Amino acid sequence: MGVPWRDFSGRLSPLKLAVFVALFGPALWTLMAFQLGWLGPRAFNEAIHRIGLWTIRFLFIALAITPLRQILQWPRLLLVRRMVGVTAFAYACTHLTLYTADQMFDLIKVASEIVLRIYLTIGIIAVLGLAALAATSTDAMIKRLGARRWQALHRIGYVIAGLAVVHYWMQSKLEIWEPTIMAGIYAWLMGFRLLARFVGVRGRLSLRWVAGLAVIAAALTAFGEAAYFRLAYGVDPMRVLDANLSLATGIRPAPIVLALGLAVAAAGAIRAWLPLMPKRRPGFA
Ligand code: HEM
Repeated sequence: MGVPWRDFSGRLSPLKLAVFVALFGPALWTLMAFQLGWLGPRAFNEAIHRIGLWTIRFLFIALAITPLRQILQWPRLLLVRRMVGVTAFAYACTHLTLYTADQMFDLIKVASEIVLRIYLTIGIIAVLGLAALAATSTDAMIKRLGARRWQALHRIGYVIAGLAVVHYWMQSKLEIWEPTIMAGIYAWLMGFRLLARFVGVRGRLSLRWVAGLAVIAAALTAFGEAAYFRLAYGVDPMRVLDANLSLATGIRPAPIVLALGLAVAAAGAIRAWLPLMPKRRPGFA
């Protein structure tokens, strides 16, 4: 395996280089904010939260590469999938290390907390899963396992992302706005794979289906949110569903999931239309 900013033919890839540099951004920013005392009175806890957030974001970005490269007809996006996935693992390790440091490196306490608190148990299972994926992400391991077995193994990424959402949701207590958006995006990511398999043509999903998936994922988000408020606080589900149609409680997660899904479909439509654009006439600047 060569340096991360070169493509398969060994040439410098501006895309890989840009992504490689960007992946360090959130960690360096958090480190700087920590050093400068910008993270508030519970700086360590704030750093745990920030790195945790970027772990789940990178995990989701890695899972979004397959759908996006197909919808945007951008095959080179695949070049950065491994890099983003391994970065998610590195951030997860940092998140766990910061938690251990916050517990004064008392490993017995850390272990007992992991056993006793279900959201930490779920978190550690996700980290171990990511470790398995990172360890088998090298070219040599892909060759050794064979493409089919490697692909089957790497499907545990879907379970890991699901566990990450549950971990995020459980530790959020009252503030479930962003975890609900993440759950909606997770529904979109998994929905894409299911639809591509069952209604796609040779695994490809038409843009109509991509737009339809945005609506399905948003509906699941709205119903999931309503079910949560019903079960946790006994709130009438109709009130929660109605909140999606007004701005009285701010923008709810479902419209955000819908907007993201439709934006992806629109980007796909623009991309499909681009090659049809007339070539610039000679003489025009
Ligand atoms: C892939 C695995 C993991 C992911 C994706 C992940 C992600 C997250 C996210 C998104 C948050 C919330 C951030 C926020 O609210 O701003 C969080 C919080 C947290 N996570 Fe994780 N995490 C993972 C594994 C772990 C592990 C293994 C531990 C420790 C054993 C852990 C301990 C914590 C703690 C202590 C918090 C803060 C809880 C609080 O302040 O009440 N996480 N994590």
